[in-house]
Amino acid sequence: MFPRNQWYPFGWDYEVGRTPLGRRICNEPIVVYRKLDGGLVALEDACPHRLLPMSAGKVEGDNIRCGYHGLLMNERGETVEMPGGDPPRPHICGKAYPAIEQHRFVWIWIGDAEKADAALLPDMSMNTAEGWRADGGVYHVKCDYRLLIDNLMDLTHETYVHSSSIGQAEIHDFPIETRTEGQSVICSRWMPDIPPAPLYKARLPKDVGNVDRWQVCQFLAPSAIVIDIGVAPVEEKQTLADHAKWRRSFVINLITPETERSCWYFWGAARKRHQP
Ligand code: FES
Repeated sequence: MFPRNQWYPFGWDYEVGRTPLGRRICNEPIVVYRKLDGGLVALEDACPHRLLPMSAGKVEGDNIRCGYHGLLMNERGETVEMPGGDPPRPHICGKAYPAIEQHRFVWIWIGDAEKADAALLPDMSMNTAEGWRADGGVYHVKCDYRLLIDNLMDLTHETYVHSSSIGQAEIHDFPIETRTEGQSVICSRWMPDIPPAPLYKARLPKDVGNVDRWQVCQFLAPSAIVIDIGVAPVEEKQTLADHAKWRRSFVINLITPETERSCWYFWGAARKRHQP
């Protein structure tokens, strides 16, 4: 059901701290917390004794203690104290997951640990880039994660769903161009010489008339979508290939399957500072 040898976002950096956070990814219960030095620990969220979620326990130093009978586990999932004070037994242990923090997200590798490679992380550098301002949040959504991908790769719905902000009838007048680039799929729509949608009109300088508008949706497997959106006055003569000036933003969408019928939707927006 789910691509396994992949990095999936577990949470925003600000969600993960010294209090253990439990979430299910691709049907696997996982607990994540920070060590004393701020580094990450990701373990199976089930105590090897009676399967109580370890996220219901407490972090002690760099270890985590089960909240039922007190088993203590280290960052590798090894039991270092047994319930009742018996000597630790090496075969009583939990699974540890590769975890990494990059561009304000905590990522977990679900598949074979030896295949975890930081070079495979999707590029979210716009989230921390110099001269850009970015932030976002998370929703728990009760649907198959692929339905969100479908929603975000075809923005035709903006005309109707977002009619009071970024929607406008002209979106339908211009076709989507679709292409592949390496492992990604890119859907682009260039809308030249149209009136600004309500949200842009409210924020642009009053003397701006018609604009060129763009939507470039990039899908990065398994479930990341970065959308490059913006407008510029027609007089700027920007193009789909070169539209770095004026009002430009990146909408960040990271979707992590929880189960077959639910997912975690991490959303964010990165916007250049000091744009008109
Ligand atoms: S269930 Fe965790 S120590 Fe018993």
